Amino acid sequence: MTALLENQVAIITGAGRGIGAAAAELFARHGAKVVVSDLDAAPSDAMAEHIRAQGGAAISVPGDVTDPAFPDKLMAATIEAYGKLNCLVNNAGYTWDGMVHKMTDKQWQAMLDVHNTAPFRLIRAAAPHMRDASKAEQAEGRTPEPRNIVNVSSTSGLHGNIGQANYATAKMGVVGLTKTIAKEWGPFGVRCNAVAFGFIDTRLTRDKSAGDTIAVNGEEIALGIPGHLKDMATMMIPLTRTGTAEEAAGGILLMASPLASYITGHTLEVTGGAGV
Ligand SMILES: NC(=O)c1ccc[n+]([C@@H]2O[C@H](COP(=O)([O-])OP(=O)(O)OC[C@H]3O[C@@H](n4cnc5c(N)ncnc54)[C@H](O)[C@@H]3O)[C@@H](O)[C@H]2O)c1
Repeated sequence: MTALLENQVAIITGAGRGIGAAAAELFARHGAKVVVSDLDAAPSDAMAEHIRAQGGAAISVPGDVTDPAFPDKLMAATIEAYGKLNCLVNNAGYTWDGMVHKMTDKQWQAMLDVHNTAPFRLIRAAAPHMRDASKAEQAEGRTPEPRNIVNVSSTSGLHGNIGQANYATAKMGVVGLTKTIAKEWGPFGVRCNAVAFGFIDTRLTRDKSAGDTIAVNGEEIALGIPGHLKDMATMMIPLTRTGTAEEAAGGILLMASPLASYITGHTLEVTGGAGV
């Protein structure tokens, strides 16, 4: 297979596990130097180590994307290690479900923080290395390097989902952010797309009884969905199964790669056909 991201530098947030980890591995196999980042340092470090052990290039920069100081730290580490940035994948996220009449302000705000404010700040922090770098190359009469952003959305955002007023609102916000960046940075050749996943098999969609949690600001938030929902959901998927993290990563790579060089402002649905 041709390497699609040879000599390109990519930051992937939430890359310690699940879809982000699969994307980090896939990007590395396609020649990218990967900046692996996750809230949890151990899986973040392990993924970067795994990529290096396979002969690829990767560093780990763990941290919380909702920390206002983190975007600058992540950009600085990337530039120090690799000198440039070609692709930013805003993938970090989680769910904190509840019916709207019982949802707390904290629950609501947490979803906007991680899925909207964090990608906004990361994109703003990336501006000197993406927007401004491309603009400078254009001013010198050169064709800018390939540069793009992929923001991770969800079918919950596109269609709404019971128990996810907070998450659905935030994930639709991702689409608005994506289209705006596509319009603002398009003249400089920087693309920005979203990938909206349907039912991908990760700890976010596994049976709640598995007991997975995420620790955010000292709070242990339960992850997963009621087990019976998986059977109901797969009945609505034309491909009649859930997707793997690797298949989800394929959608991210597609939008990040030169195969999508004339695609910007788009939301790619990676859903096995659900919702068509
Ligand atoms: N699994 C699905 O079916 C599905 C569907 C639609 C969208 N998504 C989205 O895909 C993305 C990846 O989810 P996943 O299914 O791989 O889940 P996952 O839990 O397996 O992986 C998400 C990773 O993001 C990290 N993370 C969470 N909050 C963070 C923070 N504040 N700072 C830094 N890292 C943080 C977690 O530590 C975790 O390693 C998320 O944005 C999610 O909303 C998933």
